[in-house]
Amino acid sequence: MIYLDHNATTPIDDRVLEAMLPYLKSFYGNASGLYRLGRLARSAVDTARNQVAELVGASASQVIFTSGGTEANNQALANLEPAAGLAVSAIEHPSILEPTERLRQQGHPVSIIGVDQHGLIRQEAIDEIIRDPKTAWVSIMLANNETGVIQDVTRHAGQLKDHNISLHTDAVQAAGKIPIDFKRLGVQLLSLSSHKIYGPKGAGALVFEKGVRLSPLLLGGGQEQGYRAGTENVAAIVGFGKAAELAKSELDQRNERLSLLNTHLEDGLRSIPGLTIFSEAAPRLPNTVQFGLPNSDGEMLLMKLDQQGIAVSSGSACASGGREPSYVLTAMGVDPVLAQSALRISLGTANTPDQITQFIKLLKALVCQEG
Ligand SMILES: Cc1ncc(COP(=O)(O)O)c(C=O)c1O
Repeated sequence: MIYLDHNATTPIDDRVLEAMLPYLKSFYGNASGLYRLGRLARSAVDTARNQVAELVGASASQVIFTSGGTEANNQALANLEPAAGLAVSAIEHPSILEPTERLRQQGHPVSIIGVDQHGLIRQEAIDEIIRDPKTAWVSIMLANNETGVIQDVTRHAGQLKDHNISLHTDAVQAAGKIPIDFKRLGVQLLSLSSHKIYGPKGAGALVFEKGVRLSPLLLGGGQEQGYRAGTENVAAIVGFGKAAELAKSELDQRNERLSLLNTHLEDGLRSIPGLTIFSEAAPRLPNTVQFGLPNSDGEMLLMKLDQQGIAVSSGSACASGGREPSYVLTAMGVDPVLAQSALRISLGTANTPDQITQFIKLLKALVCQEG
């Protein structure tokens, strides 16, 4: 099998699994327990908290473990004071867009921040929400899961801070792919997910600036400084920590390989007549390419590639299965027919140049059959 869908999820790193196993078998204590088994679990969670904090240049006391990126994003939007306004970009993940819609139904004023044809936040849209005195919180993702476009979050955070507006960034796709420095970004909240960085599924984190108003989604035993109750998923947290440590120490090495593979991939794609690489002119993650082919159907191509043992995505994992063109591409003003043909390739550490060659060869053959 050739797996080219690492933005959907990544295989677990062997070293991560190794780190987790003792906490699934021998060290099963509850991290709140005062006896030795409990203290062992607590210490492992503390180590993981440091590792995750270091990945984004924050301190351990700023990290709340969650069940994943979805929960971190939901919690990030749970801080709004009554009637306070929220603005989110049009290309956010559904785990931001859906809670935003609920907040709108509950009476919060909501604005949607538009993007240009490259998928970058429009500065006029930022100016507009700043002029609106109701805007209290904004959410802008650091990197988009479909196009891989990286936003200038540092610049936007500075602009918003000047007007006492707080910013959350969804860094689920950016983590492990580009360097992240929480302080330099200047955001108040940042979301992470373990399974996008070769860690286990079911673990994530919300990183917060000291002093920010935070509301727990889950109430109970007071774990995670009272911000996220529930017995810690120690093994998953340990795995997340190890994955974060590796993502930081191997970032340059991974990116060097990924950039070479990506160049190989994009050169191959450009040799297919009529193919469009979306957001080609924007800063993008080194592992992500989304493209469209005139007169093709993305979903059909995906299925034919799958029959040949190649896994790709036709957009965000959550959107595939539906027949609507990607809302991210729609927000960029991409023609709906071209958007319907979109495929996303997201490379990972185990991919090889030979796999890319095989993919391009098969794609060309399939396109010829269709044409
Ligand atoms: C940008 C982005 N945010 C959030 C999430 C949700 O993360 P999780 O799968 O850990 O809930 C995803 C997952 O695809 C994502 O791509």
